[in-house]
Amino acid sequence: MFSNLPFFPEQASTMASRVDALYYFLLAVSGFFATLIAVLLAAFAFKYRRRSETERPGRVHGSMVLEVAWTLIPFCLTMVMFFWGASVYVSLARPPDNALQVFVVGKQWMWKIQHLEGRREINELHVPVGRSVKLTMTSEDVIHSFFVPAFRVKADVLPGRYSTLWFEATKPGAYHLFCAEYCGTEHSGMIGHVVVMEPAEYQAWLSGGPPAASLATAGQALFEQLGCITCHRSEPGARGPQLAGLVGKRVQLQSGDAVVADETYIRESILNPQAKVVAGFQPIMPTFKGLVSEEGLIQLIAYIKSLQPADERADGGAGGSMAQGKAEE
Ligand code: CUA
Repeated sequence: MFSNLPFFPEQASTMASRVDALYYFLLAVSGFFATLIAVLLAAFAFKYRRRSETERPGRVHGSMVLEVAWTLIPFCLTMVMFFWGASVYVSLARPPDNALQVFVVGKQWMWKIQHLEGRREINELHVPVGRSVKLTMTSEDVIHSFFVPAFRVKADVLPGRYSTLWFEATKPGAYHLFCAEYCGTEHSGMIGHVVVMEPAEYQAWLSGGPPAASLATAGQALFEQLGCITCHRSEPGARGPQLAGLVGKRVQLQSGDAVVADETYIRESILNPQAKVVAGFQPIMPTFKGLVSEEGLIQLIAYIKSLQPADERADGGAGGSMAQGKAEE
């Protein structure tokens, strides 16, 4: 309806029209009531104006019908806003399972992006059209916010934890990418483009560029280099918990609690190993704070995700990044 109005950015994702429809509804309801109130205010001021010095207004009696109406109508309208808004929010908050994974690290003042296959870029994000893309994001320093107006998605990017955002682009093209949280002197320069390409073009782009190891392979190298492998062996009696098949599982902790092993949990366990010690293990792991960069952590997580438990590997073909590739399809 208003898509040609310059106030609204182009709609280029599957969520854009849903977000806009809700926005127009809120705008229409607000506009209607703002007008109604302004008109009534003026009309009543005129109709009930004081006509003479001696005029005394008559007594006003309550009206049940009016009271019920102005209670019920706003109630219904706000409930529509609530459920409609909640449904859009839930869709935005839940990436589809088959989404393409991309990692984003924000820092003063740039966006660093890593693709699972190994390609990296700065202030540019290449994605295929018609495929849902899930971004796992963190910051090296302060709070940033990843904002693509044409996709109607925005999420804070926080130091010390992972936040996620997903979208499915519907039109090839280049779209503005902004940092939407004031993050220092050059905040306004922390901008870039999301480049949406046809799938074949995207595949060509992905395999172009300087040769790069996949994230999982880079993670494996780091895993060996940091010596993680000396304790986290996949054999009974190892000093550290087994990592194969860990991601997404519930983990019983020494404290009696349980957590789901997601990316944030793995990150915490590398940087602050004493925080959540797995039941049955000693708190002997040293911290790797300062030894691994945010990008290194992402690579380690990609590697740990790619590890398949021994019994599944038997019927799942090759392990390592191959198995990860399978799971992604
Ligand atoms: Cu980063 Cu503003």
